[in-house]
Amino acid sequence: MSPKISVETILAALGKVQEPELHKDLVTLNMIRDLEIKGGVVSFSILLTTPACPLKGSIENAARQGVLTVPGVKTVNIKMDSSVPSDGRLRGLMQLPVRNAIAVASGKGGVGKSTISANLAIALAQTGARVGLLDADIYGPNIPTMMGIHDIPGTKDNKLIPADAYCVKLMSMGFLVKPGQPLIWRGPMLNSAIRQFLSDVEWGELDYLIIDLPPGTGDVPLSLAQALPLSGVVIVTLPQAVSLEDASRGLEMFRTLEVPILGVIENMRGEVFGSGGGEDLARVAKVSFLGAVPMEQSVRISGDTGEPVVSSRPDSDAAKALKSIAEQVAARVSVEALNESKKVPTINIF
Ligand SMILES: Nc1ncnc2c1ncn2[C@@H]1O[C@H](COP(=O)(O)OP(=O)(O)OP(=O)(O)O)[C@@H](O)[C@H]1O
Ligand SMILES: [Mg+2]
Repeated sequence: MSPKISVETILAALGKVQEPELHKDLVTLNMIRDLEIKGGVVSFSILLTTPACPLKGSIENAARQGVLTVPGVKTVNIKMDSSVPSDGRLRGLMQLPVRNAIAVASGKGGVGKSTISANLAIALAQTGARVGLLDADIYGPNIPTMMGIHDIPGTKDNKLIPADAYCVKLMSMGFLVKPGQPLIWRGPMLNSAIRQFLSDVEWGELDYLIIDLPPGTGDVPLSLAQALPLSGVVIVTLPQAVSLEDASRGLEMFRTLEVPILGVIENMRGEVFGSGGGEDLARVAKVSFLGAVPMEQSVRISGDTGEPVVSSRPDSDAAKALKSIAEQVAARVSVEALNESKKVPTINIF
């Protein structure tokens, strides 16, 4: 006769399993759900903070091993589930049904921000998250072309309906600017235009809103960063030193604005621009390094033809790198959400 297994012993075992990003155990983090014990069979769900969790497999494994050490347990059935936490800033301030807004920024132009924004959005959507992509580069909106969208979106009940591409909801501020029309938005005006614009879009519920910012530290990215309660920003840089100086300026601007810096992405790694600069910047600025995307012709071509590489060439090295970066970004957002929620005690202890 096998010993009777109690809920407490199972929870004690799971209480020893750490979530590697959040540095707390699964029970404290309230990640264990639907625990059922039938004879020697123990079943439960693990509620991850993002479907893009890169450590899904290792968390599942550690939980299984932990529960198998309890005497009498023969089989462990685990269902991996996810619920993306919000840092609360967006809901409170703007009444937007968006859990996390993530800006993609750079110190200078042409480093691949738009390419990375588009691929990041698609990669997150591929994990099952609900994702929006906002092209906020009012001076050079490239995202619609990169995502293969050419039509100005329609309206319904005075709301703008975002386009849908690769399971990502897409809106470009460029849709509102007529070609050749001079742009005179500045400071506070730009700020309120952005807020107005964002609340006029029918996003629906989103787990992540990726925002492609204009390059640099000028008026526009500054106003944008202040107009939106951002969960965090990722900084894109080329591998070489000159680009790093610019990237570092961009990074420090966000730090001054108290926007959490989720990390640095190095783009176009390879023979032409070299490698390693992104890591250097991350180390010096004491932020995370999220990964490097190789320089590949397919990245440029797929951008030009409106079929981003994570969708059109998922097995390419660049696509694999971008998918891994998306997982890292999701993980960093979860950590930031936890840090933020520590300020207001909303974590439930099981
Ligand atoms: N990893 C890569 N390999 C090859 N080409 C790339 C890569 N990343 C981006 N590109 C190409 O480099 C060019 C610039 O990229 P992109 O438009 O994404 O940069 P950006 O930072 O958004 O530029 P801007 O500052 O003008 O908005 C594009 O032609 C794009 O296809
Ligand atoms: Mg761009």
